[in-house]
Amino acid sequence: MVSLIPQPLDVRHAGGHVSLTGVTVRAHGLDEHAAARLEDLVTRLLEATLPAGAGKPDVGPPADLPVQLRVDPSAGPDGSTSDERYSLVVDADGATLSAPDAAGLLHAAQTLRQLVEPVPASGGGEPTARLPFVVVVDAPRYPWRGLSVDVARHFSGPEALRAVVDVLSAYKLNVLHLHLTDDQGWRIESPSRPELAKLSSDGDCSGGKGGHLSLADFRALQDYAAERFVRVVPEIDVPGHINAATHVYGDLRPDGVPTDAYTGIEVGFSRLTFDLPATEPFLRDVFTDLAHVTDGEHVHFGGDEVLTMEPDEYARFVELCERIIREAGKTPVAWQEAAKAPLRPGTIVQYWDTHKADLTYLADAARAGARVLLSPANKVYLDMKYTADFPLGQEWAGLVELRDSYDWEPEGVVEGLPPSSIEGVEGAVWTERIVTTDDLFTMLLPRLSAVAEVAWTTPERKDWEDFRRRVAVEAAAWRRDGRAFHPTPQVDW
Ligand code: ACM
Repeated sequence: MVSLIPQPLDVRHAGGHVSLTGVTVRAHGLDEHAAARLEDLVTRLLEATLPAGAGKPDVGPPADLPVQLRVDPSAGPDGSTSDERYSLVVDADGATLSAPDAAGLLHAAQTLRQLVEPVPASGGGEPTARLPFVVVVDAPRYPWRGLSVDVARHFSGPEALRAVVDVLSAYKLNVLHLHLTDDQGWRIESPSRPELAKLSSDGDCSGGKGGHLSLADFRALQDYAAERFVRVVPEIDVPGHINAATHVYGDLRPDGVPTDAYTGIEVGFSRLTFDLPATEPFLRDVFTDLAHVTDGEHVHFGGDEVLTMEPDEYARFVELCERIIREAGKTPVAWQEAAKAPLRPGTIVQYWDTHKADLTYLADAARAGARVLLSPANKVYLDMKYTADFPLGQEWAGLVELRDSYDWEPEGVVEGLPPSSIEGVEGAVWTERIVTTDDLFTMLLPRLSAVAEVAWTTPERKDWEDFRRRVAVEAAAWRRDGRAFHPTPQVDW
């Protein structure tokens, strides 16, 4: 039985298998550089699935399976307009992956990776592997399938973030949202304001040494992610969650006095002040710097939990941040609170706060042209504890077991929201209580794979019992790659 996450739109079994001990991957229809990079990446993904003992036979014909990657505008489901759609055929001659674009080809390769079945050794031979004959035709439900990672409360450096990108790509997620600044730290070099990272990045919420991404780190991370068709969406959180900046610049404060460094985990106490002369230049500098180094279309300006500001002043901040980000050529994204202010059409608002019952303002903003990204905290905040006694994470949004992350319908979470306004689904992991990379992955896995299925798969194709079975199969890849995960009792591992 094949085991794919996220569940594709259509999988047909032809009966039969082809065995493999190696692969020869060839890409057609891409420029030479793109073809070589994709061939190399897909070869490594597939070779990693082969049993350690598998290899070229000493005698007999070479058994490398041909894997053809073909650019083909007609690939994918009939009528799909997604530029990530793909088709995949495995038969006795090998595997043929087709897609209109390289992103779809990599999605097809991730599907192929999951189709590889280990074959145990028999009769003194080596273990091998095989692929079932199948035809897969697939496309995502939503264009934005992401994960937000808070690198401000505890810093995750480039190596950990590359590992996150690998897991995003494995489940066909395509956005890495980085929460780069908060009260506790400024984790990105801002060239116009070098003091920010210099003076506000060398600590975290548990007395650690902190850190930040240099522009070279950020560049390299975006390149690594882009090779895997993952976009980085950077966030500088304003006008609240801003103590890391008011700690550096006293002129952002009415009293002119820089605030103390903050290592606690309270929220909502810090703020900018619109009418101070230093405020707009600060916002222009940091957002224009960030837009210039961002390859993708989106820059996030936060906007959440400004608990000590009147609505009029808050609305002026929203208007100004949107304007600065648009002038820098990007599309603004903000947390749901921004929808309480008038928004320009096309701005993306990110729903998160599942304690708030009246979301009329969010549905109204969507009807007026805002796009909506769904991150309901009680489903996809992956820093919430799995169970009350779980040693990591928090529980202010509730306990979030694997099934909670899986069993929800995006069109049902915000009353009155036009389904056509939904841009996608994004998980989030806040790091007040998450320190190490193993902590991070323990919270992400297996729940991130559930979020991926919610974001990719049509509701008719989802099935919790079947998903439980498929997740257990995926754990082999996590173990092989040394990823920590939580073996929740909801799954027979
Ligand atoms: C948030 O969780 N404050 C966006």
